[in-house]
Amino acid sequence: MTEILFPVEDGIARAAELLRTGALVAFGTETVYGLGGDATNAAAVARIFAAKVRPRFNPLICHYPTAEAAFVDVEPNDVARALAAAFWPGPLTMVLPRRAGCRVALITGAGLDTLAVRVPAHPDALRLLAAVNRPVAAPSANRSGQVSPTTAAHVLEGLRGRIAAVLDSGPCAVGVESTVLDLCGARPILLRPGGVTVEAIEGVIGPIEPLVAARAIRSPGQLPSHYAPSLPVRLDAVSAAADEALLAFGPPCEGADLVYQLSEYADVIDAAARLFDGLRWLDAEGQRRGLRGIAAMPVPESGLGRAINDRLRRAAAPRD
Ligand code: TXA
Ligand code: MG
Repeated sequence: MTEILFPVEDGIARAAELLRTGALVAFGTETVYGLGGDATNAAAVARIFAAKVRPRFNPLICHYPTAEAAFVDVEPNDVARALAAAFWPGPLTMVLPRRAGCRVALITGAGLDTLAVRVPAHPDALRLLAAVNRPVAAPSANRSGQVSPTTAAHVLEGLRGRIAAVLDSGPCAVGVESTVLDLCGARPILLRPGGVTVEAIEGVIGPIEPLVAARAIRSPGQLPSHYAPSLPVRLDAVSAAADEALLAFGPPCEGADLVYQLSEYADVIDAAARLFDGLRWLDAEGQRRGLRGIAAMPVPESGLGRAINDRLRRAAAPRD
């Protein structure tokens, strides 16, 4: 059952309560409806990926009621502050470095050291975000591969029964997603065109680079890429060598001293929630102990297992 809530006091309070308990709530923004979950709760974020049936972990945008709240989790620079003053609340997403002590779960940013943040320009969304008082991760509220929803009815077509509630705040005014700008490097890079035009942005901060141009000048290693452990990863391990750390899924196989359990009872949603913490921890601890690699036990290629395997295959792929 998916509750249909309306943006009156009770409806906002109910939506906020659901989000704070880890449930998923779709809500309208000025761009498209977002599929919201508590960004600090890895299990809630894993359920976002499961509800969308996403075949991989794309990094998600964190939504905040104010720029001040957003800048608690990421480190703004002068350009980011100028853009926030000019365009927030509004359809602009900024990718910035996570702060030390950032509350947002690693899975929300697909394990990256950066985080996409935005303050949406919709009064109901802002009331909801203020009531939740935590960052809310929200990709567009559609199943993977379908178009982004701009009404609560669209959301229900794809996600009815898969999410706790939808907050119906009417049709979205903008109808296209937010503009995504990477502000982590020396020059801003446009990652996705969207609701705020390039001309408007350049009017405030000067020239920005389109992604294609940026790729040509920078080495791919400097572009936002997925976190890869320094230790090599070996897939489909049925046993571990003495000098390997083990990423376990279900009862651990023989051989390893250093073990991180993704899910004791082999549940893919639990495992997804723990994957990024597990890889980071095994990598750091394994290097500290002088181990030579990480052996990853097999995870079934179904449901979120697909996204987990996609991530593990990238971690195991040969690197430049
Ligand atoms: O308008 C919007 O932005 C909507 C509403 C709900 O806010 N949300 C949305 O989310 O479109 P989603 O997940 O469909 O798109 C997020 C975009 C993706 O292109 C993703 O790759 C990029 O933001 N992104 C997120 N975090 C990133 C990061 N750390 N580095 C680079 N790109 C990132
Ligand atoms: Mg989308």
